[in-house]
Amino acid sequence: MRMTVFGVGYLGATHAACMAELGHEVLGVDVDETKIERLRRGEVPFYEPGLPEILMQHVNSGRLRFTMDYGEAAEFADLHFIGVGTPQRKGEFAADTSYVKDVIARLSPLLSADAVVVGKSTVPVGTASSLQEIADSHAPDGVRVEVVWNPEFLREGFAVADTLTPDRIVIGLADGEGSQGFARVALEKAYAPILASNPCPVVVTDLATAELVKVAANAFLATKISFINAVSEVCEASGADVTVLADAIGMDPRIGRRFLNAGLGFGGGCLPKDIRAFMARAGELGADEAMAFLREVDSINMRRRERMVEVTVEACAGTLIGKSIAVLGAAFKPHSDDVRDSPALHVAGMLSLKGASAVVHDPQALGNARALFPTLAYADTALAACEGADVVLVATEWPEFIELDPLAVTEVARGRVLLDGRNCMPAERWRAAGWKYRALGRGAF
Ligand code: UGA
Repeated sequence: MRMTVFGVGYLGATHAACMAELGHEVLGVDVDETKIERLRRGEVPFYEPGLPEILMQHVNSGRLRFTMDYGEAAEFADLHFIGVGTPQRKGEFAADTSYVKDVIARLSPLLSADAVVVGKSTVPVGTASSLQEIADSHAPDGVRVEVVWNPEFLREGFAVADTLTPDRIVIGLADGEGSQGFARVALEKAYAPILASNPCPVVVTDLATAELVKVAANAFLATKISFINAVSEVCEASGADVTVLADAIGMDPRIGRRFLNAGLGFGGGCLPKDIRAFMARAGELGADEAMAFLREVDSINMRRRERMVEVTVEACAGTLIGKSIAVLGAAFKPHSDDVRDSPALHVAGMLSLKGASAVVHDPQALGNARALFPTLAYADTALAACEGADVVLVATEWPEFIELDPLAVTEVARGRVLLDGRNCMPAERWRAAGWKYRALGRGAF
């Protein structure tokens, strides 16, 4: 099949390359010339394991191309995916849907035959039907554009696997599950290779449900993380161990152990903005009380970052002035170079503002971190960040930090205090090497 993908960031570039991997002919479209140039050369403009290989393979084979020309895209296919961003609006909780709207408003008048537009971006419920109105008013006479919603559940760091072997495929159609029209047939055909090799449930529903499935899933994940982090506060106050507790409650299959890792909490370009946009949209719909608990989910999450700073101050005998802190991690999670709303960088920034010299290292995110927080100090290796450090603070659970040799760190650091912001470090190994170990949710030193 031929298809286009509008917006080639983390979501769109992955989707485009994976669709080519499934055997389709794909044209990626974006307004960012630098991004398009790099993708045309087969370069992924961000870190995503496994993506460079399939991108290069399909750029070379010619099955995957990139353009900035909407006219070319309109001519190329009658199946168009949208994966542009829906960031949080400045000074508000609501999502900014202007990029999605722009794509529809620019593309629709250029279409010369009936087409399907498949939204993949995370949007407030009701967006798809307003996009349908834009398409109807902008498409040439006689051309029918059908807007459908097909939310994406991929995680950064596992984006290729999540796209090629999804847990489920959700398809929202204006006519609901009874529809047998062109849009449903086109999407089922597009995903047929996935369903043939790795069958997964396909949920066909109405537009509003499909839009809500995505935000509800992210809100649930955020709530699960904040739940364990709230319990973690009680563990700290009572001397209990949140990691043992999480293991024990996670053994109940109704609860499950995944997403119960206590620590610095969630960040990134999705969970924080999605819970806020969900609250904002619920409010617009008159259901604000229903989602009011998400405000608490958000504050528990932000409190963990402040608590990490407090614990660091305690470890430095009450003041950070003149202290050097090695901050290991800048990305919002391992296997990613994304620093959007990163708890690690947030903590490093707060430590620095309180007078410490925070030296940050991250295996992949140093470039993005430097661009966002140019005033922090950065080191090219974990050991270089630890040189002269009074405290070593692990803020992102990269495997190379977990595997660090405490004896090697002992040789370069000034102090012997390890603060574990992700409950990921082998505590006994560090204690055996003469280090004081402290983690969020696991009592005192
Ligand atoms: C999230 C969802 O997991 C995806 O399903 C969704 O498609 C994506 O958002 C999106 O909306 O695009 P992602 O932001 O890549 O994916 O990252 P997650 O793996 O969900 O982690 C989010 C944050 O939660 C990270 O900062 C991570 O460190 C934190 N986290 C995760 C915890 O603090 N504890 C946990 O137990 C798990």
